[in-house]
Amino acid sequence: MAEVVIVDTPEEAGAHVAGRIARLTRSKPEAVLGVATGSSPLPVYQQLRVMGTEGSLNLGKTTVFALDEYVGLPRDHRESYHSVISRELVEPLGLDPFRVHVPDGSLEGIEDAGERFESDIRAAGGIDLQILGIGSDGHIGFNEPGSSLASLTRIKTLTTRTRQDNARFFASPDEVPRHCITQGLGTILRARHLVLLAFGRGKAAAVAAALEGPVSAQCPASAMQLHPRTTVVLDEAAATELRNGAYYRYAWQNKPAWQEAE
Ligand code: F6R
Repeated sequence: MAEVVIVDTPEEAGAHVAGRIARLTRSKPEAVLGVATGSSPLPVYQQLRVMGTEGSLNLGKTTVFALDEYVGLPRDHRESYHSVISRELVEPLGLDPFRVHVPDGSLEGIEDAGERFESDIRAAGGIDLQILGIGSDGHIGFNEPGSSLASLTRIKTLTTRTRQDNARFFASPDEVPRHCITQGLGTILRARHLVLLAFGRGKAAAVAAALEGPVSAQCPASAMQLHPRTTVVLDEAAATELRNGAYYRYAWQNKPAWQEAE
């Protein structure tokens, strides 16, 4: 069963997850991090930047893999995931740009962009900790409902709902690209630790389906139930539809002392 942590605010969630990343990179400076874009991980990145400024975090040897990228959006477009990761993490934390990998969404070479990304992950030794957000339809990465549970990095068509959800980042909904390149569910499941963040009532149904529903391609995030090490960090609003919410709170508060967070 997933480790479920229910916190009061996204800031508290950010501090919690950033603390885990700091412990991981202290014990393994050359750790490999999987990072998501979208709004859910932003409090984590904010806290990592604070720790970087204070000098309590050094990601100089850390390798980073992004989950996904839009297809056909120029790399230097403000909303390309390459730009978002650079702005949020790479530049402020002084990460080595040669250790930062974002799936290549440029049209040239798109045919084998997925395979190249998979081979880069393998060459780095696999992902130690993968940060995830969840879509209101249960997607993780851009694996929309119906995605194969064994899928690897590949091109996908974005659903109308996801394009509408992401329209807030663009000047008009028509500007949201129609295709993306995303790590597959099989890629995500190979990471050694999955950490999903979700906030707000709008995520509650997807979170409940992911954690307590059947494992099904209809809720791609439910594939996380197949993973041996998953942490889900929620605020109260995102936890409202969990049948076992009271148990999750109880289990977290009564965690055995020997079971350290990392
Ligand atoms: C982003 C990604 C998506 C988002 C999801 C939730 O790299 O892979 O799966 O995590 O769409 O987005 P937010 O966090 O903006 O609600």
